[in-house]
Amino acid sequence: MTDGYSEATKVVHSGEAPATLPQTVGPPVQRGSTVLLPNAAALYDSRLTTYGRSGLSTQETLASALAHLEGATTVRLFPSGLAAVVGSMLAVLKAGDEVLVTETIYKPTRRFCDNVLKRYGVRVTYYPARATPAELMAMAGDATRLIVMESPGSLTFELQDAPGIAAAARARGILTLMDNTWAAGWFFKPLAHGIDISVQALTKYVGGHADVFMGCAATRDVNIGAALDHAVWDFGWSVAPDDAYQILRGLRTLPTRLARHQDSAMKVATWLQDQPEVSQVLYPALPSSPDHALWRRDYTGAAGLFAVVFKSVPADATDRFLDALRLFGLGFSWGGFESLALSADPQLGVREHGSPFEGPVVRLNIGLEDPADLIDDLRTGIYAMGVS
Ligand SMILES: Cc1ncc(COP(=O)(O)O)c(C=O)c1O
Repeated sequence: MTDGYSEATKVVHSGEAPATLPQTVGPPVQRGSTVLLPNAAALYDSRLTTYGRSGLSTQETLASALAHLEGATTVRLFPSGLAAVVGSMLAVLKAGDEVLVTETIYKPTRRFCDNVLKRYGVRVTYYPARATPAELMAMAGDATRLIVMESPGSLTFELQDAPGIAAAARARGILTLMDNTWAAGWFFKPLAHGIDISVQALTKYVGGHADVFMGCAATRDVNIGAALDHAVWDFGWSVAPDDAYQILRGLRTLPTRLARHQDSAMKVATWLQDQPEVSQVLYPALPSSPDHALWRRDYTGAAGLFAVVFKSVPADATDRFLDALRLFGLGFSWGGFESLALSADPQLGVREHGSPFEGPVVRLNIGLEDPADLIDDLRTGIYAMGVS
C-alpha cells in the first residue's frame, strides 16, 4: 500500500492492522476511534459500526459474554457502575415521571436522584427497603414510571422481594431496575425473575481485582434495549478496550472466586455472630437473618460482603477496631480479592425510614485470604475496642 509514496507518507501509513489474526484464548484488544469503511455508501449505513466510541470487537466480546451471564438480549457497557445505574435511569425516565427508589440505595446513586433527576423534573420518592409489593403499589401513582431496587441494600443488606415487586409493577405498566452488583449476575438473575433492567458495577466482583471501573445494563426488552443504546450514544459514554479485556478476564474466574468468597464470608460471619461484643450480623445467608427465607427462595448463593453491628460501645471504639486491623484494608470498594472494612454509620443518616441498630455498623468485604487469618485479624480488632 505504501509503494511509490514519499518517506513521510510511508511513515504515516506503514504497519497496517492485519486483516486476520492468529486465534488466542482471549479476544484481541482492538483500539480505535476511527473505523475505516469499505466504500462511500457504508459511511452512512446505520447497520455498521462507523465510529469506535460505541465499542469495537473487544467490547462486543465482553458484552456478549455478559449477555450470557445475565440471560439478556442486550447488554450495554458504561464507564463505571454508577454510570450504568444513572444512565439506565436516564434512558427510561423523562420530565414529569416519578421514580420509586429504595432508601438503601448506593449513596452516590441517591445523590444523582436528589441532585440531577429532581433538577430535570423527575420526582423521586424513597421507600423502605423491606416494602412489600403491595405497599409499593400503594405508593405508586399515575406518574410512576420506574421502581429502582438494590438488593441486598447498600451497607445494611436488607433483601427485597424483587420477583414480587417486578410482577406487581409489570401489571401496572411500571418498569423495574435492579442494582444487582452484590450477586454479580451469578447468585441472582434479575431478568429471569421478571425485572426489566439488570445493572451491575463490574468494578466489583466481575473485575475482581480492584483495578478497573466499568458497569453494565442488561435487558430482554427490545424497546428498553433501544433506549439504552440511545442513552449511551447521546451522552457519549465510552469504554476502553483494555478495560473491557480486563473485565472479561475477571469474568472467566467469577464463579470460582465467588464460591470462595461465599465460603469464607460464611465462616467469618458465623464466628462474628458468636462474639459477645456483637449485636448482630447483617447477612441474608445467615439463618438468623430476617431475610433468610427470601434469600433461599431467590438466590443460589451469597457474596462475600456483609456488615457487623456491634453492641452499644463508646464512640471511638469503632475507630480503634478499624485501626487495629492488619489484613483488612480500610477502603470504600468491595468485590475484589482483598479484604476491606469501613464504618457505615456516617452514610446511614440520610435514610428517611431509619434502621436503628444497637451500636455501630461496620461493613466487611471478605476477600480470598485464608478465613482463619481474617478471623484472627478481627479478633485483634475487637480486642482493641477495649469493651470486653
Ligand atoms: C451497589 C453499588 N452499585 C454501584 C456502585 C458503583 O460502582 P462504580 O464504583 O464502578 O461506579 C457501587 C460502588 O461501590 C456499589 O456498591
